[in-house]
Amino acid sequence: MFRYLTRKCASPASPCCSPGALQWELPDEAATRALGRDLAPLLTPGMVVWLDGDLGAGKTTLVRAVFRALGYDGPVKSPTYTLVEVYVVSSLYWYHFDFYRFSDPEEFLDAGLDEYFRSDAVCLVEWPGKAAGFVPSADLALCLRFPSEASRSGRTLDLLACSERGRACLNILARPGFQGAA
Ligand SMILES: Nc1ncnc2c1ncn2[C@@H]1O[C@H](COP(=O)(O)OP(=O)(O)OP(=O)(O)O)[C@@H](O)[C@H]1O
Ligand SMILES: [Mg+2]
Repeated sequence: MFRYLTRKCASPASPCCSPGALQWELPDEAATRALGRDLAPLLTPGMVVWLDGDLGAGKTTLVRAVFRALGYDGPVKSPTYTLVEVYVVSSLYWYHFDFYRFSDPEEFLDAGLDEYFRSDAVCLVEWPGKAAGFVPSADLALCLRFPSEASRSGRTLDLLACSERGRACLNILARPGFQGAA
């Protein structure tokens, strides 16, 4: 069940941790995968999705579920070492980034990654904060976290729409019948 976020977020650098974001409880990996399944058909060419949050919180799991829902059954590896993994699914380019290993945000430009953010591509970005100031802004900003420092069980997801396209997605996701919706 989702609710509107009212508390302060543990990762204030992430835009999704602001009042107005929606919050979902994802009690297990299946719930993360279900959210990815529901999100997949809502993503359209040119969209940028930021995936922030705790290390090992399930960002890649969510992206993998998006690709599975689109009918891609090949390997979906974490781009932690390659920076970007490229997929062509449903005649569309999908780029999955992970900037965790950046020690300087300018590495984004040095690696020529700005060229991937095109109107015919969907970009899913893990650790966007590591390329702050250079990575294009998000249509949808997600933040996946452990429920508390003591608990490694389940996850909390905050989700904020940052554009009209993002709002269109979120309006559908929050409807009854979709993942987490009442
Ligand atoms: N809702 C959930 N509840 C419990 N475990 C989950 C949930 N969602 C994903 N996981 C588990 O979290 C683990 C880490 O997932 P994943 O590699 O996708 O994290 P990540 O956020 O991409 O990590 P990194 O920050 O290193 O890129 C996986 O073992 C996955 O099964
Ligand atoms: Mg990952």
